[in-house]
Amino acid sequence: MAKLSLRDLDVRGKRVLVRVDFNVPIETRGGKIRITDDTRIRESLPTINYLREHGAKTILMSHFGRPKGKPVEKYSLRPIGDYLHSLIHQPVIFSHDTIGEVPAKIVEHMANGDVALLENLRFQPGEETNDPAFAKALAELGDLYMNDAFGAAHRAHASTARITKFVAKSAMGLLMEKELKHLRDGLDKPAKPFVVILGGVKVSDKIGVLNALMEKADTILIGGAMANTFLKTEGIPVGASRVESDKLDLARQLLETAKKRGVKFLVPIDAVEAEEIQPGARMRNTSRLSQQHGITEGWQAVDIGAATIALYQDEIAKAETILWNGPVGIFEIPEFAEGTIAIAEALAQSGATTIIGGGDSVTAVKQAGLADKMTFISTGGGAALELLEGKELPGVAALSEKK
Ligand code: 3PG
Repeated sequence: MAKLSLRDLDVRGKRVLVRVDFNVPIETRGGKIRITDDTRIRESLPTINYLREHGAKTILMSHFGRPKGKPVEKYSLRPIGDYLHSLIHQPVIFSHDTIGEVPAKIVEHMANGDVALLENLRFQPGEETNDPAFAKALAELGDLYMNDAFGAAHRAHASTARITKFVAKSAMGLLMEKELKHLRDGLDKPAKPFVVILGGVKVSDKIGVLNALMEKADTILIGGAMANTFLKTEGIPVGASRVESDKLDLARQLLETAKKRGVKFLVPIDAVEAEEIQPGARMRNTSRLSQQHGITEGWQAVDIGAATIALYQDEIAKAETILWNGPVGIFEIPEFAEGTIAIAEALAQSGATTIIGGGDSVTAVKQAGLADKMTFISTGGGAALELLEGKELPGVAALSEKK
């Protein structure tokens, strides 16, 4: 059943509680906080601006970091509120308490179109324990509730799940709607060929996604350290590369399933190997990987090799829909980023619908300066993975149904 959307509700003059995900990466220099990637804040703007333009009183709430149920200065949302102010050119009223008299007074004095931000929800232990009393106290601040925090929708917390029990109506914000449209509905019956690129470190992190996508994908391209585990099952020496030795059977099963289902499942045919994982380390492209010629003993695979790049580029060029999750090499080190950048470029040139399913591949696409060439880039990490696994997200399940 479809969920209610922000656009289905009359918000004028209403106190609208909006759960956003302002959990953004920051760095602190000389005591000053700098947001290193403001995407999640910018992606919340359509909902915030819609509410402002429609005369709502917008009360934003978010978590930030993992302060474990008590106030921790460095996780205060105040600087994020200041940053939001600079984006919307309107003061953001900051409440240093999340519940009780302070926010109640602020809300009481808000005019239509005003925007307020509550302090980090995780300063309260009740947030992560999904505590009904905390959820109720939050709910009392509003008339309506919107969840626009896709990045936190896989968490069943007081502000994402329990709160909907205490408000008259709860709906998806515009970002939540967009994420579900591309990552869930758009991939339900994707235009074919559907090519999935999966990278990252561990096979175990991606089992759920692999199993779910095996039902729909025509081709799966594997990269990153998880490729080593697949290579090892084929008897290819992987040197000192990271391998999940306890997941070899699982990798074998996945290869079998792909074969049975007629899914083209490709693992690297060559690699970039390095003596050490650090800039300036000795490195080289291997020859074709085989049981006789694998990764050199003591060396590690750090990226897909030139032949693999060409092979994957061919598959990408044939695709109508592409989903990418996880870099194919250690792209944080520029020398080992070539494969990941080549994949980003191939996606940008493909003409296919390109979906970047969250996490490090998003960072890679941004680093390559190709973000605006993609059809959709998710703001979720864990939430995107769970959705791709076909799981129901608690933060979505809790919202009101569209009648
Ligand atoms: C994220 O960054 O993935 C979300 O904001 C969720 O944060 P969490 O993993 O601390 O719950």
